[in-house]
Amino acid sequence: MPRDRRDYFYRKARKEGYRSRAAFKLKQISEKFNLIKKGNTVVDLGAAPGGWLQVAKELSGGKVVGVDLLQIEEIEGVETIKGDIRLDATVEKIREKIKEGADVVLCDAAPNLSGNWSYDHARSIDLASSALECARKILKTGGGFAVKVFQGDMFPGYLDEMRTYFAKVQAFSPEASRKPSAEIYVIGRDLLPEVVRLNQEYQVVIEDVGAGGDGIARIEDFVVFVKGAIKGEKLRIRIRSVKPNFAFGEKIE
Ligand SMILES: C[S@@+](CC[C@H](N)C(=O)[O-])C[C@H]1O[C@@H](n2cnc3c(N)ncnc32)[C@H](O)[C@@H]1O
Repeated sequence: MPRDRRDYFYRKARKEGYRSRAAFKLKQISEKFNLIKKGNTVVDLGAAPGGWLQVAKELSGGKVVGVDLLQIEEIEGVETIKGDIRLDATVEKIREKIKEGADVVLCDAAPNLSGNWSYDHARSIDLASSALECARKILKTGGGFAVKVFQGDMFPGYLDEMRTYFAKVQAFSPEASRKPSAEIYVIGRDLLPEVVRLNQEYQVVIEDVGAGGDGIARIEDFVVFVKGAIKGEKLRIRIRSVKPNFAFGEKIE
């Protein structure tokens, strides 16, 4: 992006009263993926100085909590926590503020850059992994997560990990990101329930056969359809696909 274009978002942020040019990245992410909806509870990890918090509050009007190593200056209607997102103690503090869970978790956190590409990439993946762990602990099933990652050789592995937890996962570069820039955002939607995991094996009993002819088993009340299984059969299955409300499994021979 040419320098005057970069300055465009900087000037626009100042003119519109946003604390950071990053505010426009969240606007573009949320618009594209319909991420933050009215009434949503939103948690922003690595939120200082607070541009994303301002946008999250505007879009949701609901409960918004920001977390950062640094103190975040007050924003009306937004709660803040000073803490390290990698620590369990911080996750607990977030949970105390959002007892019902979050609809959306955001993470624009970045490690201090050293200038060494592969080292910065590894630290960014590490931080994004902590953010994912935190998101899984505080999101409601069906919730959404957007996280910043610096691209590099560990990026495909991170995308794969996201795909085990979210039904839909996409990478996106908002126009407001500086170019050339290593940063990219990964957006996960429809957090899957914890009880059933992709590619894992389970012992089940087929309780019934559905209208489509698939056997129906339950793992802690979560419905799993098993092709070719018959009522009363006890078998081991491997989960092949997980949707927010049900999964498909296949018999293991
Ligand atoms: C690019 S800024 C976020 C900008 C923000 N989205 C905005 O619009 O104002 C990244 C932030 O991540 C924070 N951060 C980095 N590592 C963190 C960690 N382990 N825990 C909490 N915050 C962290 C930094 O202190 C920094 O304020």
